Amino acid sequence: MKEILQTKRSGPLVIGHRGAGGYAPENTMVAFERGLSLRADAIELDINVSKDGELIVIHDPTLDRTTSGSGLVCQHTTAEIQALDAGSWFDPSFSACRVPTLREVLRWARGRTRVVIEIKNGPVFYPNIERLLLTQLDELDMRQEVLVISFDHIVLRDFKALAPDVATGVLYASRLPDPTVMAKSVNAEVLMPYWALLTREEVEQAHAADLLISPWGGPEQNYEHIIALGVDAVGADYPDRPRDVMERAQQ
Ligand code: G3P
Ligand code: CA
Repeated sequence: MKEILQTKRSGPLVIGHRGAGGYAPENTMVAFERGLSLRADAIELDINVSKDGELIVIHDPTLDRTTSGSGLVCQHTTAEIQALDAGSWFDPSFSACRVPTLREVLRWARGRTRVVIEIKNGPVFYPNIERLLLTQLDELDMRQEVLVISFDHIVLRDFKALAPDVATGVLYASRLPDPTVMAKSVNAEVLMPYWALLTREEVEQAHAADLLISPWGGPEQNYEHIIALGVDAVGADYPDRPRDVMERAQQ
């Protein structure tokens, strides 16, 4: 299962955060395409659930921040959500961007790139989101092409019980005495700490426990620092930035 974070390039795997959320409206097809064109090895996205039970690729449980709509995602149908403008908030030139479903993104990604799928849960908790996700992965035979992550470790535990062969990663934003215990308690393979709290000891602790480690963060991340710690993957709103750091280190 460790293959999910392996790369043929040198250095850690680069995950395009929300596609390439620094360059294009996050979690849209334009952002995912941009991520790959900037040599991301994988793309990250967030899922919520619509009123009609479709997995929707959007970060917030509400429509307000990243679309022309408002209100909860779970109180709108897929058709209503996909009629919205998901790009103008970022820049008027992106007004044609729409909110994709997970099904659409997986079809686009299949055989082309890996997908890091973050299950968003809370304050809206979606009953059966883990089952909905697994059904979609199986429809496209993509269990080996995804890493499923969440801050909600209960949903990760439940997902893993359904699909022991799908790699999972625990997100967290605190400095823990032993994060490996937390990961093992839900049978996850990847530790995903907030980058600024990461230490070399934590990376060594992860590897000694046969876990991978992939920090996350926004544009404030210091990639020279993170990569020097020996991580397995890095997330980036600007995927070219960690790539440039790695290329400079090789010169
Ligand atoms: O990749 C993990 C990261 O995406 C978690 O934070 O808020 O960007 O979803 P957030
Ligand atoms: Ca995310």
